[in-house]
Amino acid sequence: MPRMTFIDSAGTSHEVEAPLGHSLLQIAWDNGLDVEGACEGAMACSTCHVIVDPEWYARLDAPTEDEEDMLDLAPGLKPTSRLGCQIIVNEAMDGLTVRLPGSTRNLMLG
Ligand code: FES
Repeated sequence: MPRMTFIDSAGTSHEVEAPLGHSLLQIAWDNGLDVEGACEGAMACSTCHVIVDPEWYARLDAPTEDEEDMLDLAPGLKPTSRLGCQIIVNEAMDGLTVRLPGSTRNLMLG
């Protein structure tokens, strides 16, 4: 099974199993990570925002326009931001690393 890493808002890495066909939002929930996902994957919020490691960003399928529109509303938006509920694990994602955006906000607040 692929494995992936979430870096939480405190900067702590969590290496977790990433079952094929699961979204990053589901995986975060399954591992007790602090990702809200208010609309449960319906692309009607931006609370599942994750920041993809730049090395990985280009290897993922490009976001749809709807996803881009929703991301525009996300606090702490970065060039490699994505909605966690829209990234679905496949075999090629073994080793994927994403950050949870809380850390970005903290940095911006100094
Ligand atoms: Fe709402 Fe992903 S959970 S857009």
